[in-house]
Amino acid sequence: MTEAFLTLGIETSCDETAVAILAGETDVRANLVYSQADLHAKYGGVVPEVASRNHVMKLPYLVRQAIAEARVKMKDLSLVAATYGPGLVGPLLVGVSHAKGLAYGLGLPFVGVNHLEAHIFANRLSDAALEPPFMALVVSGGHTSLIEVKSYGDYQTVGTTVDDAAGEALDKIGKMIGIGYPAGAEIDRLARAGDPKAIDFPRPMGTSAGFDFSFAGLKTAVLYHLKKHPREKEADVAASVLASVVDVLTKKSIEATRRYHLERLVVVGGVAANSHLRERLLAAGEERGVSIAFPPIAFCTDNAAMIAAAGAYRHLQLSETHDFALTPDPSLAL
Ligand code: KG4
Ligand code: ZN
Repeated sequence: MTEAFLTLGIETSCDETAVAILAGETDVRANLVYSQADLHAKYGGVVPEVASRNHVMKLPYLVRQAIAEARVKMKDLSLVAATYGPGLVGPLLVGVSHAKGLAYGLGLPFVGVNHLEAHIFANRLSDAALEPPFMALVVSGGHTSLIEVKSYGDYQTVGTTVDDAAGEALDKIGKMIGIGYPAGAEIDRLARAGDPKAIDFPRPMGTSAGFDFSFAGLKTAVLYHLKKHPREKEADVAASVLASVVDVLTKKSIEATRRYHLERLVVVGGVAANSHLRERLLAAGEERGVSIAFPPIAFCTDNAAMIAAAGAYRHLQLSETHDFALTPDPSLAL
């Protein structure tokens, strides 16, 4: 028997099946992620139908395993939270339906969670004392957005990608140089042995006035470069590509934080795991008087602890509950 408010979080917006148990608002009792990346690798990207079917198969086991790991019982749960957007509609439908079924069967409230908002909450799990206001850079395979977090629940997007997300561009460039999907972590590693000045790739929208991003042009520049120089060293391509991506992300994020008179920049999402981006942002932050926060890598990439955290906060602090009519919204905005 446990007294704590326990949230079961479910994440299935893309190719990770994830389940977590959270006590209160920040105490992670279990955080399980089953990545389907290997299943999709041979297609060079996520196949929605394959993802949906695998979520259906894995989710019930992960729920049981999370309950066991957290040493609680189903009847001890207080809330069920699941991502309902943005993401792939089939995968989202699996998680939302499972969550609604559990909530109905157990007589619990249900909260649908915005995946982007949850990425911002990842930071609260590692540093509960870090409260808004701050600027958040959400940079992943699906998103590249600068979000002014006035308070939890009150957001203003100040810039976003006009085409590819940073992680999406890295994954596509990885494919061109023969790296398996997803390529971000491998490009990170390869770049350590390369020369970031070897190829002068463009810094798309790097000097534009606003805070929007564009990464599709970089992808095309890499494609043309490789056509002309098929023997270019992989490590030099990786290092030069990251030099461009890191340059633009760092400059715009620090500039936006200062322009909005904020002292802190919180960096979340899968690409926030990038070691070059971390180093560069920390150095630039120190120089420009902006404090930089990154959650640990396990909370940066897709996980359900962040979903439970956003759901618990919305339920406990903002008195939010969704009824079972809530359906997935693949293009849900903040
Ligand atoms: O947040 P996430 O797990 O899923 C989405 O919501 O998209 O992010 C996945 C993305 C992929 O594009 C992957 O290549 C990238 O994050 N990624 C990285 C690193 N680790 C994962 N990109 C650069 N450096 C890394 N170390
Ligand atoms: Zn994500």
